[in-house]
Amino acid sequence: MGYKMDLRELLEKVAKDVDKFIYENLVGTPKHLYDAALHIIRAGGKRVRPTILVASGLALGGEYARLIPYASAVELVHTFTLIHDDIMDNDDFRRGVETVHRKWGVPVAITAGDLLFSKAFEVPTSSELSNNVHDHLSSLRAVNILSRAASIVAEGQALDMMFEEKQMVTESEYLDMVYRKTAALIEASSAMGAVLAGASEEDVERMKRYGRNIGIAFQIKDDILGIYGDPEVTGKPVYSDLREGKKTLLLIRAMERGSVELRKRLQQVLGNRNASTKDFEEVAKMIEDLGIRRETELEAYKLAEEAISELNSLKGVKRPEYIYALKELATFIVSREK
Ligand code: IPE
Ligand code: IPE
Ligand code: MG
Ligand code: MG
Repeated sequence: MGYKMDLRELLEKVAKDVDKFIYENLVGTPKHLYDAALHIIRAGGKRVRPTILVASGLALGGEYARLIPYASAVELVHTFTLIHDDIMDNDDFRRGVETVHRKWGVPVAITAGDLLFSKAFEVPTSSELSNNVHDHLSSLRAVNILSRAASIVAEGQALDMMFEEKQMVTESEYLDMVYRKTAALIEASSAMGAVLAGASEEDVERMKRYGRNIGIAFQIKDDILGIYGDPEVTGKPVYSDLREGKKTLLLIRAMERGSVELRKRLQQVLGNRNASTKDFEEVAKMIEDLGIRRETELEAYKLAEEAISELNSLKGVKRPEYIYALKELATFIVSREK
């Protein structure tokens, strides 16, 4: 094996094994509940979080088969948050398919989310019990990291909703909110990989900082794609953040620095479910003309660079080809179109 690990190959392999594990474990009745819970999983997705967990773990000497159930657990928590997030954000599409609440109604979507959330904690522990895994301390720590991250995501989602009602949000309030709603689970993924590999405390902390930085970069990029992305490519609607009055980094800056005209236009479209596509397009162009799209792209890149420098300071690397993949992943996250 060389020094380089192809990121695309790794994403595909992890996706295949995680999906297999999830499908084997998410079996039950009533059928419509399991169908609703698996709907978004079947629709695809990048599987970035499980890949981060696996690559972090393998880089620090972990064993692939032990990492897969936890990588699956992280994807289950992620999917649960997506289903509930789409209810909260009033969105009709995700991963190119109808959202769960659109297809089955809100009550089933809430329950499908609950099912995924509990399976996330049941499934890796059951697998370890049946396989007689003896390293209880690292398992307990991994589960603790995941449950703590899930609590932080709930806090972040509550802040995200509160900010819709707030006229002005500062950049530091924004960063705190996106750390919680998005970066916390990505940080948990890299930390769990390190813990399951039996890494030193210092290396666990470094992996955590890697995850936190790419996690914040990830959400900044998500905000950009939410305005300038192609829904055919992202599989998600465009302008939904503006329609819902979300305080994204681009919006915060547009409100701060925009002309009187732009601010007036923003007041009209923000949180306005009747605003037209043309209204949104015009506002999007005005924000771009202020240079805000470019500068937020650059900030996401800077965070990815910081993440990469954390990887360079790891002491206990056993398989550098996976560090290479994590670096590629940091760049992928900020350059992606979906
Ligand atoms: C979307 O996450 C939700 C955010 C935290 C921004 P992803 O962009 O990872 O979504 P999938 O899993 O690839 O669909
Ligand atoms: C991202 O929320 C965080 C979670 C889903 C927990 P967003 O609302 O910003 O993400 P998308 O754009 O709908 O995927
Ligand atoms: Mg959303
Ligand atoms: Mg949301």
